[in-house]
Amino acid sequence: MSLLIHKSIGSMRAARMGCEGEVALVPTMGNLHDGHIALMRAAAKEAPNVIASIFVNRIQFGPTEDFDRYPRTFEADCEKLEAAGVEHVFAPLENEMYPQPQQYFVEPAANLAGVLEGASRPGHFRGVATVVLKLFNIVQPDVALFGKKDYQQWLVLQHMVRELSLPIRIVGGEIVRATDGLALSSRNGYLSVPERSEAPRLHRMLCAVRDAVRGGRRDFAALQAEAADSLNRSGWNVDYLCIRRREDLTAPADNSDGTGLVVLAAARLGNTRLIDNLEI
Ligand code: PAJ
Repeated sequence: MSLLIHKSIGSMRAARMGCEGEVALVPTMGNLHDGHIALMRAAAKEAPNVIASIFVNRIQFGPTEDFDRYPRTFEADCEKLEAAGVEHVFAPLENEMYPQPQQYFVEPAANLAGVLEGASRPGHFRGVATVVLKLFNIVQPDVALFGKKDYQQWLVLQHMVRELSLPIRIVGGEIVRATDGLALSSRNGYLSVPERSEAPRLHRMLCAVRDAVRGGRRDFAALQAEAADSLNRSGWNVDYLCIRRREDLTAPADNSDGTGLVVLAAARLGNTRLIDNLEI
């Protein structure tokens, strides 16, 4: 079956109405890699109809972020979707999604969306939640899949669906990594050759933190600081490196039993900001 490309909301809605059985949606910003494709394959296990979306969402980028230079590789993306057996892609132009500047927004709860990525990138999760709700309203999926690579995004969207009573199941996909451990990301393409060989240190550091907690360390603040210092000494610029509870991203108590935690980090290597996380 060949991939059908929908540029308009009308065409996407008509195709969705023609689907028999449940529909799974995988939202993306394109420049697809194996992490995205793993989500497409997981989606096919959730529902007989898989719809991908490709839209570089301006309102989730800060004014000094990489919206303009974000990689756009539509033709190659369509080939990958087709090879993965995806039937429909919704790929609207900006004026289809935002015919005038958006004035209504989903404002995610500050306790979840104001920390970590949300503290570093003000307004980011509001832009994500708003576009994802629009995509949900256009596609009306039964299930939607998001990668745990963006752990906080996955939590925020689960929370949005619960609080707004949306009849949509949210499924998380495991992080897909290169063989050296670097989490796949469209932003990896910004790395120079020496930066690319340095980049897996972030994942190695998260593994070291995980192993330390598993080994019994509970002085979380000191452990986080040691890991961040070590990265900074290797030429990184750490934005945050935090051990948090998986459920709500609050800090664990020092008498935590060490389960149900996740270590999350964002750090800059040269001009490229990388994020990663590891469930402990
Ligand atoms: P994008 O960065 O294109 O990612 C699309 C989906 O792929 C997200 O759910 C993301 O978590 C997942 N993903 C990316 N890299 C992954 C990896 N290495 N392993 C597993 N999953 C991975 O996230 C967005 O787009 C946008 O914020 C979006 C949700 C589309 C809203 O604009």
